[in-house]
Amino acid sequence: MSAGTYVLGDVAVNRMGYGAMQLAGPGVWGPPKDRAAAEAVLREAVASGVDHIDTSDFYGPYTVNALLREVLHPYAGLTVVTKVGGRRGEDKSWLPAQSVAELQSAVEDNLRNLKVDTLDVVNLRLWGANYKPNEESIAERFSALAELRAQGKIKHLGLSNTSRAQVEEALTIAPVVCVQNEYNLAHREDDAFIDWLAGKGIAYVPFFPLGGFSPLQSSELSAVAAELGATPMQVALAWLLHRSPNVLLIPGTSSVGHLRENLAATELVLPQDALRRLDGIESKGSILNAH
Ligand SMILES: NC(=O)c1ccc[n+]([C@@H]2O[C@H](COP(=O)([O-])OP(=O)(O)OC[C@H]3O[C@@H](n4cnc5c(N)ncnc54)[C@H](OP(=O)(O)O)[C@@H]3O)[C@@H](O)[C@H]2O)c1
Repeated sequence: MSAGTYVLGDVAVNRMGYGAMQLAGPGVWGPPKDRAAAEAVLREAVASGVDHIDTSDFYGPYTVNALLREVLHPYAGLTVVTKVGGRRGEDKSWLPAQSVAELQSAVEDNLRNLKVDTLDVVNLRLWGANYKPNEESIAERFSALAELRAQGKIKHLGLSNTSRAQVEEALTIAPVVCVQNEYNLAHREDDAFIDWLAGKGIAYVPFFPLGGFSPLQSSELSAVAAELGATPMQVALAWLLHRSPNVLLIPGTSSVGHLRENLAATELVLPQDALRRLDGIESKGSILNAH
């Protein structure tokens, strides 16, 4: 893979990582629908040079972290990024779990489920509507995680579904090494935020890089991909890698075939004309992406 690296906390990670959410069963619930395939995805990702894996106890819940532990422990050479701040209802809903006590017990759960003494990176997943940040103060919640970091249970902290003001508030409490927000060819509200984070040396890790539960569809994206002999998903990932050096990718898949396709996007060079057309996609509103 030739995506290059970016420093996440204290480690230079490959800019092409892997997001493990798709390894839970349907509806991000329960064990993988195909356990052998899920194991194969993880093994092949790591064998191919992926060294940054995104996860959470929300996925399953707990089944994805259990799978990571069973397949990848002791995670030699890997940076495993988890997130706290949510929980699953029995009806498979996604619910906030943002009290200090809930955050503390979520960190303990992750330590136990991943079987580590220290979590590499913990994102505080905030809870605005539709994956968008709200502008509440995060001082109490972030301070609680900073305290766990001071105790050695967490190496680095990040924020998810966050605004710039919340990152600025967090930085008065403890270092922030990454931001994980929704961003892709169709959702570019964070353009200025990405550049600001780059100036601070903070990684930006877009979730739903391929559009999430309903992958991106656009005639312009398909046309560019056909001209380059690539797939639309590869072009979407290459566009993100090109967007800024602090962008780290964590595309999700449950399929080895899709994993290979996604990793190969690191070899794709986008000519100027393709970049211009891709940059124009959002403004033309010519992309379909609902979730
Ligand atoms: N912080 C947050 O609030 C938050 C929210 C959502 C996600 N995340 C993280 O972000 C990661 C990435 O997000 P995501 O997995 O939801 O969305 P994504 O990477 O944008 O897309 C995943 C979807 O695309 C499909 N796919 C993957 N590669 C493909 C390919 N080459 N061709 C066609 N379809 C392909 C997958 O299906 P197949 O399994 O069939 O390949 C899956 O349905 C997650 O794994 C998770 O770790 C964080």
